[in-house]
Amino acid sequence: MEFLRLVLLFLHLLGLGLLLGSFLVQRRVAPTGPLSAGWLHGSLLQLLTGVGLAGVDQALGGEHAPDNAKLAVKLVVLLVILGLIVVARRRDTLPAWVSPALAGLVVLNAGVAVFWT
Ligand code: HEM
Repeated sequence: MEFLRLVLLFLHLLGLGLLLGSFLVQRRVAPTGPLSAGWLHGSLLQLLTGVGLAGVDQALGGEHAPDNAKLAVKLVVLLVILGLIVVARRRDTLPAWVSPALAGLVVLNAGVAVFWT
């Protein structure tokens, strides 16, 4: 179970890297769209690994027991990110603020993960 938790955490951190990488690529290649697929893949990976981690942490209890309010905030922020991505991916052109706003929300969730103890 502990190994599963570490694998999920590893993938969760790779998902964060994928989202931040998608931002850098988007800024360089197509700041006004279309939005690259990396955003969708990264945010879905965060959703799956985050929910999986929450379940495993719950089962393990102890020092890894999740704070439900923290998880709820992270889930809501991620759903906003996903909603924005789904709407943006339907369009060929985007306002220039979309990818910085997405990256800001991703960084917000990383901050919540680390500083909410
Ligand atoms: C863009 C979205 C997200 C980002 C950038 C993100 C970022 C992070 C980071 C950096 C960590 C490592 C923290 C540490 O080990 O100190 C972490 C851990 C974790 N994340 Fe996420 N996360 C996201 C979405 C989610 C979602 C949607 C959930 C589930 C509702 C979730 C659940 C967890 C859990 C359970 C942990 C391990 C325990 C903890 O640190 O609270 N994450 N996340």
